[in-house]
Amino acid sequence: MLDQIADIGADPVRGGYSRHVFDAAEMNLREWFAERATRAGLEVETDRNGAIWAWWGEPGPDAVVTGSHLDSVPGGGAFDGPLGVTCALEAVESLRGKGFTPAKPLAVTVFPEEEGGRFGVACLGSRLLTGAVDPATALALRDRDGISFAEAASARGFDPDRFGRDDRLLSRIGRFVELHVEQGRGLVDMGLPVGVASDILAHGRWRFSLAGQGNHAGTTAITDRRDPMVPAAAAVLAAREVAAKHPGARATVGRLNPVPGGANVIASSVEFWLDARVPSTLDTREIVAEIEAAARLAAEREGCTLNVREESYGDRVVFDPELRDELAGMLGGVPALETGAGHDAGILGSRVPTGMLFVRNPSGVSHAPEEFAEPEDCTAGTEALAKVLEQLAG
Ligand code: GLV
Ligand code: MN
Ligand code: MN
Repeated sequence: MLDQIADIGADPVRGGYSRHVFDAAEMNLREWFAERATRAGLEVETDRNGAIWAWWGEPGPDAVVTGSHLDSVPGGGAFDGPLGVTCALEAVESLRGKGFTPAKPLAVTVFPEEEGGRFGVACLGSRLLTGAVDPATALALRDRDGISFAEAASARGFDPDRFGRDDRLLSRIGRFVELHVEQGRGLVDMGLPVGVASDILAHGRWRFSLAGQGNHAGTTAITDRRDPMVPAAAAVLAAREVAAKHPGARATVGRLNPVPGGANVIASSVEFWLDARVPSTLDTREIVAEIEAAARLAAEREGCTLNVREESYGDRVVFDPELRDELAGMLGGVPALETGAGHDAGILGSRVPTGMLFVRNPSGVSHAPEEFAEPEDCTAGTEALAKVLEQLAG
């Protein structure tokens, strides 16, 4: 199945895949999913927030739901998201093939904008579904071209007035289990193809906006400059230094935008995004405050202004311990792993018991083209998920 979608959204410039919510590639993937799910005998519908639900059996309470996402980060790998979706379809097909009929409703779902790759807020679909983000705030988010989420949704036939918390749909979910490629080397080090998730680090994103004076790179004396790139550079270094002194903390600047962006132009403004994640022993906002203080000091020295805005935040997620142990038991006592990556399962965990299965990634790399899973491990993941679905829905 991954081969069937291998050409969709391939990014010739960055490498890997750029598949963003409501763009041509993501719409293409939605169509592919609907066609595959229909062929597997599932009833496909799209909810108010643009998530797809493919039902086996009449939609109703106590449903067992699995799935993931089909969008990617810019230049991302082939497995983050699509592995969970394809393994879910494969698991359904194999259960059907052996004559299984679920006693509870079973659904495969695809969440939109899990990465926040287009509109900046990760897990936007599941945040809307659970009410973790206010629909007005979500609809006003803008992509790099200035198109709002409301405009992008409308252009694809979704009604922005209907976006928002969906208690009826939520009340149908009995348990949610997301399969995902591992985004580190935990399973490689343990020599195991499949594990379960224990918890997710607290995680937030902050937008830093620096303003100075645009000017000529050749004629402006160093002492006369108000160059916002200088405090931006100081902030990038502070992010590394602050994270390094707090064990387990991670701070990253992966997106930085100087305006106007000419090689011979001192920028008039710079915007960059700080992604910060910390284990339970630390406070994300304290770490960010330390980095912000360093950025502010550097901005003052350079005669620049700084504005910082929190764009998203999620506390640490501890997956339902009972379900976690149940899943691990069904799979012969596989280990539970902590992760620094965010997932829709983490957002749903605030409302329903959720769990996750991880599949070994020999490269240990994710959010990059080198992300990988061996075919036999994908099969092991599918078999594990089929076992879980059979036991939870049987
Ligand atoms: C999503 O994969 C994230 O952790 O940023
Ligand atoms: Mn993912
Ligand atoms: Mn991801």
